[in-house]
Amino acid sequence: MSGVSLTPALPVHAAVLSQLHSESFDEGWSSQSLQTTLETPGVFGLIANIDTDEPLGFGLFRLSADEAEVITIATRPQVRGQGIARALMDQALKTAQENGACSMFLEVATDNEAALGLYQNLGFEEVGRRKDYYKRPGGTHQDAVVMVLKLS
Ligand SMILES: CC(C)(COP(=O)(O)OP(=O)(O)OC[C@H]1O[C@@H](n2cnc3c(N)ncnc32)[C@H](O)[C@@H]1OP(=O)(O)O)[C@@H](O)C(=O)NCCC(=O)NCCS
Repeated sequence: MSGVSLTPALPVHAAVLSQLHSESFDEGWSSQSLQTTLETPGVFGLIANIDTDEPLGFGLFRLSADEAEVITIATRPQVRGQGIARALMDQALKTAQENGACSMFLEVATDNEAALGLYQNLGFEEVGRRKDYYKRPGGTHQDAVVMVLKLS
């Protein structure tokens, strides 16, 4: 795989992560909300770099009892397709397993081909749908697919 390196995301990184999040989602999360999320017990985050210290992607994940969850994951638009999200997910799955999680859940919009490809490639399987889960600009909605990967 690529030379992606990963470092823990800490509350002090909230402003940087807010910038990365807003590049990838219509409704970017504020620095304050990301800081609060990162301070929540059970939440862990990872920041991805290639060669330099510049953050190119990040993921936030939650551990709760024997389940883990993807809160969000994003790669900067100009560096997609280089294995960054794959590296983030591989490490998150490893960390979840090491901390006793038996499965990892996530929600993804039914029209998000890149994310669906990422998760299917990792072995996640659809276990449900949430109607009109995502709000879109212009007042439209998009269904979510609920996916799970068994870790043990
Ligand atoms: C989804 C996203 C995180 C993928 O990031 P990335 O760093 O480009 O992904 P990677 O290069 O690690 O790709 C890993 C795998 O994902 C899948 N994938 C990535 N981009 C894809 C695309 N455009 N179409 C289909 N599958 C794709 C492939 O299976 C790929 O494996 P391969 O390279 O062996 O084919 C990125 O597109 C993104 O930030 N999107 C906007 C935010 C978002 O939608 N996040 C997910 C919310 S649920």
